[in-house]
Amino acid sequence: MLRRVNFYSICFAFGISVLLIFVGSRYADNTYYRPSIESRRNVRNFLKVGDEAYTLLNIPTILYDGSPDIKLLLEKTRSKIKYELSKYNFSEFGAQALENLVIESGGQPSRSLIISTWRSGTTFLGQLLNAIPGTYYHYEPLLKYGIIQIRGPPDGDKAIDDIRSMMKCDYDGLEDYFNFGKKHLYQFSHNTRLWDHCKHKNELCCDADFTSRICKLFPFQTMKVVRMRLRLIQDILKDKELNVKVILLIRDPRGVMQSRQHRTFCQTSADCWDPPLLCADMISDYVAAARILKHYPDRLMVLRYEELALQPNVTAYRILKFLKISATGLLDEFLDLHTNVDVAGVSSTFRVSKEVPFKWKNTLNFTYVDDIQRACKEAMSLWGYKMANNETHMKSEDFMPLDNYTISQ
Ligand SMILES: *[C@@H]1O[C@H](CO)[C@@H](O)[C@H](O)[C@H]1NC(C)=O
Ligand SMILES: *[C@@H]1O[C@H](CO)[C@@H](O)[C@H](O)[C@H]1NC(C)=O
Ligand SMILES: *[C@@H]1O[C@H](CO)[C@@H](O)[C@H](O)[C@H]1NC(C)=O
Ligand SMILES: *[C@@H]1O[C@H](CO)[C@@H](O)[C@H](O)[C@H]1NC(C)=O
Repeated sequence: MLRRVNFYSICFAFGISVLLIFVGSRYADNTYYRPSIESRRNVRNFLKVGDEAYTLLNIPTILYDGSPDIKLLLEKTRSKIKYELSKYNFSEFGAQALENLVIESGGQPSRSLIISTWRSGTTFLGQLLNAIPGTYYHYEPLLKYGIIQIRGPPDGDKAIDDIRSMMKCDYDGLEDYFNFGKKHLYQFSHNTRLWDHCKHKNELCCDADFTSRICKLFPFQTMKVVRMRLRLIQDILKDKELNVKVILLIRDPRGVMQSRQHRTFCQTSADCWDPPLLCADMISDYVAAARILKHYPDRLMVLRYEELALQPNVTAYRILKFLKISATGLLDEFLDLHTNVDVAGVSSTFRVSKEVPFKWKNTLNFTYVDDIQRACKEAMSLWGYKMANNETHMKSEDFMPLDNYTISQ
């Protein structure tokens, strides 16, 4: 059969390849991974395919003479989304056409919400979902709260209201959000399809009217939140109109603490540096997950970061299936296209990833690991993380920290 390379898959491929390269380069100085010249060349091949796709898809959406023409800008964004998704089979999603998923034309988008905590792999997962064409990525709506965990009052209700409004693309009354963003542009820049416009004119991102209008064009909406515990999300799950799907991303507390160790933002808040607080949240999330799965079995997916890192392909498929986003012609064609170049980026990432989640084994001292384990005994047992008995055991290659786990009440 003739290989049809649709733009949809190329675009996803580009996203994936950027991810792979990002992961690859990030850990390139790691002793576990030394890319060979061969694999570097193949990584370049990856990029080349991506570049072409990018040129094809890069329909300009902003006018540069004076102030932007909002109407035209929205019109071009509309066309771009339509174009990128022209080959997408919406019937697999249970919708007839793109319009059924677009708020502007009276539809309801496919909404996903990532709930996690700092340094648990949400950046990776967020970028993976953001790589799906037609995605509007609500990045960290609760940044303005600072380095805290929201577990209930005093901030819980307001934070939930903010999340709900944003999911409905209603940015009215969110002055705090915009004021924070004015001084911290990264609040917007992770939402790449919004940032395409704001990078030339930052004021656009702080404009509630513009943000609401552009948001309403996107059929896939995803949001990542690391400052709120799952228990509070039940209010959002109740909302039939939103029909949101939640991914709870959990990570081994030893890996989390290792990754947080040299983050200055973390030193100022016990919610970030204190293992007992982290692990109490993990227990609370477990209990909430059990309850939610009972009431809304198809609306919550629990995922351990280690599974995503060890098996990115299989796990990515599981995620797409859970979100009911059609995967056919997305990853398959991408992998198929690249098998003849040895899928260098992919295989080397598989190699790298196997080590990354367990980096703590060789970088943390056992005294500290033991402290974490004592504070996290219950949380680790619930989520299927094995204890290290002593330093030799911890550092040994045979010690595989992952165990099975089930969610039950
Ligand atoms: C879209 O998917 C549906 C259901 O999976 C299938 O029956 C249909 O043939 C597909 N349409 C196209 C154009 O591929
Ligand atoms: C990726 O996962 C999908 C679904 O499980 C599978 O069909 C495909 O062959 C996998 N590809 C690779 C390269 O492992
Ligand atoms: C072990 O690591 C902790 C946390 O990084 C540090 O505070 C402590 O001084 C270390 N202990 C030893 C014996 O190296
Ligand atoms: C360390 O733990 C391993 C695995 O439980 C055990 O076999 C070994 O005897 C322990 N070593 C010491 C020095 O306690």
